[in-house]
Amino acid sequence: MSVKNIQQLNPTQNCNKEVQVSALLSQMTLQEKIGQMSQFNSDVEKLETLIKNGGVGSVINEVDLDTINELQRIATQESRLGIPLLIGRDVIHGFNTMFPIPLGQAASWSVDLIETCARIAAIESSNKGINWTFAPMIDISRDPRWGRVAESLGEDPYLCSTLGVAMVKGFQGDNLYDSSSIAACAKHFAGYGASESGRDYNTTNIPENELRNVYLPPFKAAADAGVSTFMASFSDLNGIPVTGNSWLLNDILRKEWQYPGLTVSDWESIPQLVTHGFAVDEKSAAFEACNAGVDMEMASGNYAEHLPSLIQNNKLNLEQIDTMVSRILKLKLDLGLFDKPFTDSTEPKEPLNSFHLSVAKQAAIKSCVLLKNNKQILPLSKAKLTTLAVIGPLADDGYEQLGTWAFDGKANHSITCLNAIEDYVGSSVDVKFAMGMETSRCNNFDGFDEAIQVSLSADVAVLILGEEAILSGEAHCRSNIDLPGCQEQLINAVYETGTPIVLIIMAGRPITLEKVLPKVDAILYAWHPGTMGGPAITELLFGEECPSGKLPVTFPRNVGQIPLYYGQKNTGRPASDATFVDIDNIKVRAPQTSLGMTSTHLDTHFSPLFPFGFGLSYTQFEYRDITVSRREITMDESLKITATIRNVGHFDAEEIVQLYIRDLVGSVTRPVKELKGFKRIYIPAGESETVVFEINIDQLAFYNRQMKLKAEPGLFHAWIGSNSDTELKTELELFEAQDELLTKD
Ligand code: NOJ
Repeated sequence: MSVKNIQQLNPTQNCNKEVQVSALLSQMTLQEKIGQMSQFNSDVEKLETLIKNGGVGSVINEVDLDTINELQRIATQESRLGIPLLIGRDVIHGFNTMFPIPLGQAASWSVDLIETCARIAAIESSNKGINWTFAPMIDISRDPRWGRVAESLGEDPYLCSTLGVAMVKGFQGDNLYDSSSIAACAKHFAGYGASESGRDYNTTNIPENELRNVYLPPFKAAADAGVSTFMASFSDLNGIPVTGNSWLLNDILRKEWQYPGLTVSDWESIPQLVTHGFAVDEKSAAFEACNAGVDMEMASGNYAEHLPSLIQNNKLNLEQIDTMVSRILKLKLDLGLFDKPFTDSTEPKEPLNSFHLSVAKQAAIKSCVLLKNNKQILPLSKAKLTTLAVIGPLADDGYEQLGTWAFDGKANHSITCLNAIEDYVGSSVDVKFAMGMETSRCNNFDGFDEAIQVSLSADVAVLILGEEAILSGEAHCRSNIDLPGCQEQLINAVYETGTPIVLIIMAGRPITLEKVLPKVDAILYAWHPGTMGGPAITELLFGEECPSGKLPVTFPRNVGQIPLYYGQKNTGRPASDATFVDIDNIKVRAPQTSLGMTSTHLDTHFSPLFPFGFGLSYTQFEYRDITVSRREITMDESLKITATIRNVGHFDAEEIVQLYIRDLVGSVTRPVKELKGFKRIYIPAGESETVVFEINIDQLAFYNRQMKLKAEPGLFHAWIGSNSDTELKTELELFEAQDELLTKD
C-alpha cells in the first residue's frame, strides 16, 4: 500500500485505524517520526521547508486561514508521506464570540450552557482551520492570588470535573471526525494550581493522598470522557517536574487510567527541565521528557535536535517512539485530517452570529453572582429613576471585559455596560458617565471630582470596577487582591455623596472586598463577562433577568486567610464562634488559655467573606424537609436524598441546589464538606420543587491510606442547601456489602 494511498482510507469506510497507523509507521524514517513529535510556533517562512521535510507534526498560533490551508497543502502534498498537521490554538473561553472567563462560566454551574459555549468556540475556530485547543484547564485552584485562577473552574473537584467534562464534550462534539469538532486538552496535568504563594510556575508539594483525592479527579473524569489530549504541567511536583515525571505520566495516566490519547508538553517546558535543575543539559531534558511519556514537544525543538542521537545511542528505544508517534497519527485520523486537511474558505462564515451572541449573553447572565443586595436596591426600576450615574474605568471598555486569553476576540465586538445601559433606559433616564480613574490600577485622583459630580445629581451610582484583563491570567499573579489602584478611595468618595452605590465587579479572581462591603448597597460579581457583558449586566440590573450564579471559589476576607476553601479538614482543634477571640478583645496580659486554642487567626474571623456556592437572588428560596429514602445502605446499594425548595419571593427564578456530604471518620481524614451533586432548577414565585439526589458508593469513595479508591463503612452527614454553609442536614450510615459481611463471619 503506498503511503499517499492511506489518505484514501477513510475512517467512515470502517477501516481499522490501527492498521492505518502501522502502515504509516512502517514507512516513516526516524526523522519523520520525530517530526511528528514536534510542534512549532507559527513562523511561516521557516516552517515551509521543515514541513516539506516531514519535520513538523503540529503548528501552534497560526490563525490566518489561507496560511493554514497552505501549510496543510505543503504537509499533505509536498512532504514525502503527506501527513496533515495538527493546528493548535488556545481557544479558552470562546474564539470570536467571547464567553465569560472559565471561572465566570463555572459560576453558572450550568453544565449544558458550558458545553454549548465550548461547542460554539469549536465551530468558530474550526472554521478558521484550527483543530486542537488547549482547554479545558481543570487545575483545582485554591489560591486567588494565582493569575490562572481566572482560567480555572474553581476550587472543587466535583464541580471542576463536571464542568470540565462539559467543555470537553463541547469542543469535541459527538464525533471528532466532524469538521466542527476540535481536539480538547486536559491541562495542566497535574497540580499546577497548587503553586506556592499563588506565584505562577512555582513549586508544588502535594501529598499523594491529596493529589488523588483533590487534584486528579477532574483529569480522570476528562480521560473517562474521551478527552483527546493531555498537557503536562510546567510545575515541579514533589521534586520532580511534571514534564519529566514518569510516575504521573506513565504509571498513573497510562497504566492506572489506561489513557490512550496524546500528551503534549507545555511551552518550552522540556528545556526548562534544565532550569529546574532536573536535567544537566537540553539533551538530557529531551531524554527525561520522552522517557516520562511526553509524546509531543511544544515550541522548543529539543526533540528534533536530540532524540535522533538518544535513539541511535540506545538511550531511548524505537518501540517507545513508535508508540508515541502512533498516538499522534491516531488523533489525526480521528479528526479526519487525512481525508479533509483543508478548511473551506469560500463557505459563508458567521462568527458572532445572533445565536452565538445570545448564548454569550445567557452565559454572562448566569455567571454573575449577586453578593449583596441591601434593602433590595436591585433590581433598579427604569420608571423610578431620573438620573443614573455610571462610573468606573471598566464601564465602557470593550477590551477589558473580555478578560485573559482573548486572542481572537475583538474589543469592537463587545457591548459595554455603558452602551447597554444607555440603550436600555433610552431617553427616559439621564445617564451620566464618569471614568473616575484612567485604568483599574491607577493611583491618581484626577477623575474623582467628575465622579463625585455625577454621583451628586444621581438617584443611584453604578460603579463598574475590578481588574483589567492584564491583572489575571498566565504569569499575572497578585500578592494583594484588594481592588487595585485607588478604587477603594473612589468608592469612599462616592459614598460620601450619600448616593446609593451598586458595585459591579469585573475581575479574573476573587477580590478581597471586606473593606468596601459596608460602603456599597449591592454587589454584582460579573468576572470578565465577555463580548455580551454589557447587555447581560444591564438586564440583571433592571430585573429583566434574575441573578442565579453561585461562587465556584471561596471569597476570603483578606489575603492572610489564603488558602481558604470550604472542603478543609477539621483539624484537632477546629475554630468555632464560641472560642474565637478577636485581637481587639484580648485583655491586657491575659493568660494564653483565654484565646480559645483553636485553629484561627487573631486578626480576622475564621469564616470567609462569602462561602463557596454562595449567591443571592432577587427572590428568596426556603429549603426544608431533607429526607433520606433509607438511613442505612450497604456498599452495593444506593439511596435518595430529597429536600423541598420553595420560592417565597416575588420573582420567578433559577436556583442552584447543592448536595454536600461529610464522611465522619476515615482511614485518612476527610473534608468537613464535599460537594456531591447540584441541580439548577427553575421555580416560579410562590411555587415549590422537590429535588432528589441519588447517593451511591461512587460518591462516598475516596483514596484511602493505601491509595485505593474505596468507601469505608460508617456514618455520613448530608446537607442540601443554597451554598456550602447550609445547615439543612440529615445522616446516613454505610455498611459492608452483605456478602462481604458473610465472608468475614
Ligand atoms: C503556556 C500555557 O501554560 C498553556 O496553558 C498554553 O496552552 C500554552 N502556553 C500555549 O499557549
